[in-house]
Amino acid sequence: MKNRLVLVTGGTGYIGSHTAVELMNEGFDVVIIDNLSNSDKSVLDGIAAITGRRPFFEQFDICDKERLADFFKVYKKLDAIIHFAAYKAVGESVEKPLMYYQNNLTTLMNLLQGMIEFNVSNFVFSSSATVYGQPDVLPVTESAPFKSADSPYGNTKQIAEEIMRDVVNANKDLYAISLRYFNPIGAHPSALIGELPRGVPNNLVPFITQTAIGIRDELKVFGDDYNTPDGTAIRDYINVVDLAKAHVVSIQRMIEGKSKRNLEIFNLGTGKGSSVMEIVNAFEKSTGEKLNYKIVGRRAGDVESVYADTKYANKELGWKAEVGLKETLLSAWNWEKYVRNKKR
Ligand code: NAD
Ligand code: UFG
Repeated sequence: MKNRLVLVTGGTGYIGSHTAVELMNEGFDVVIIDNLSNSDKSVLDGIAAITGRRPFFEQFDICDKERLADFFKVYKKLDAIIHFAAYKAVGESVEKPLMYYQNNLTTLMNLLQGMIEFNVSNFVFSSSATVYGQPDVLPVTESAPFKSADSPYGNTKQIAEEIMRDVVNANKDLYAISLRYFNPIGAHPSALIGELPRGVPNNLVPFITQTAIGIRDELKVFGDDYNTPDGTAIRDYINVVDLAKAHVVSIQRMIEGKSKRNLEIFNLGTGKGSSVMEIVNAFEKSTGEKLNYKIVGRRAGDVESVYADTKYANKELGWKAEVGLKETLLSAWNWEKYVRNKKR
């Protein structure tokens, strides 16, 4: 879409940067707000190298309401907002709950308030499969009930969906789409952007690539006594570029007036569950690298198995995850190698 401007909050982060690229590839203009609390400004160079264009960039904290109002006064014609900016470390949220409620909910409320005041109609939100906890039925559909949240982080996603529901009910000109991500992994095939975790990674795939490249001694596989075929826990790993494309489709849906309700909710997954050991084996196969790993006890708070029912998203959005697991793991590995080469 030409001459359409989308605000991407958290756009120098992992998923935001991939989404900025896909938006720009589709002709959208993009303005990013990020305070760089968990990302680096050099990501903008990666986006520019891939797309041949540089997104507009504003560095500030979205919790700063006055600064945000100034932003809305300058960028008057926003067609939509995609809101990625949030803290996302589950363990940290248990230790510092207020920091998570403060950041994740204040940013959301400030943006929704700004939309009402400055007449922006369309909003896409980064939600998470964490809202389902351990679902009673698999694959899990969008209508499955919320389970009591395992962490303050997970709770911010549940509360955020409730806030959006109440706000669109009260403001019929607002349209929101909440996208519940399963496990986004991998990097752009160019290896010019990818996931850059700070410190020791919490997530499986960055831990695998850092182990394979020699930064970590070994991967700890958390638990092999789950009630799954090989005993390790099952997740739905989705390629980050596929995930990014679903945001573009969601924006187009809203701009074209195709939303069926003021708040729509979609699962973003592949529909296929993979165990931790299946990921380890697929990584070794696709990269030819041998991975040092050890089975240890379960990680507190982990669910046994969760994967998406994607029928509703596939049908309504006309979108489907396409990139296979091996190709995705190879992209994560190529990105890891690129990052380490650059640092040398
Ligand atoms: P990320 O940390 O890479 O990106 C988030 C970005 O937001 C960072 O660049 C950070 O600097 C910025 N940010 C945070 N607070 C801000 C604030 N107050 N003002 C301005 N900028 C701020 O994370 P990501 O993996 O790209 O995740 C994006 C979104 O998707 C988050 O809302 C996250 O909760 C959600 N999500 C992620 C996953 C996952 O596995 N990565 C899974 C489910 C949901
Ligand atoms: N795992 C290991 N070793 C590790 C890291 C992870 O065995 O070093 C295992 C975990 O126990 C789990 C699987 O790999 O079984 C995936 O773990 P991740 O930490 O990569 O992902 P989670 O499913 O725990 O959580 C992710 C995001 C959350 C989001 C959730 C939604 O980190 O923010 O997906 O499903 F809420």
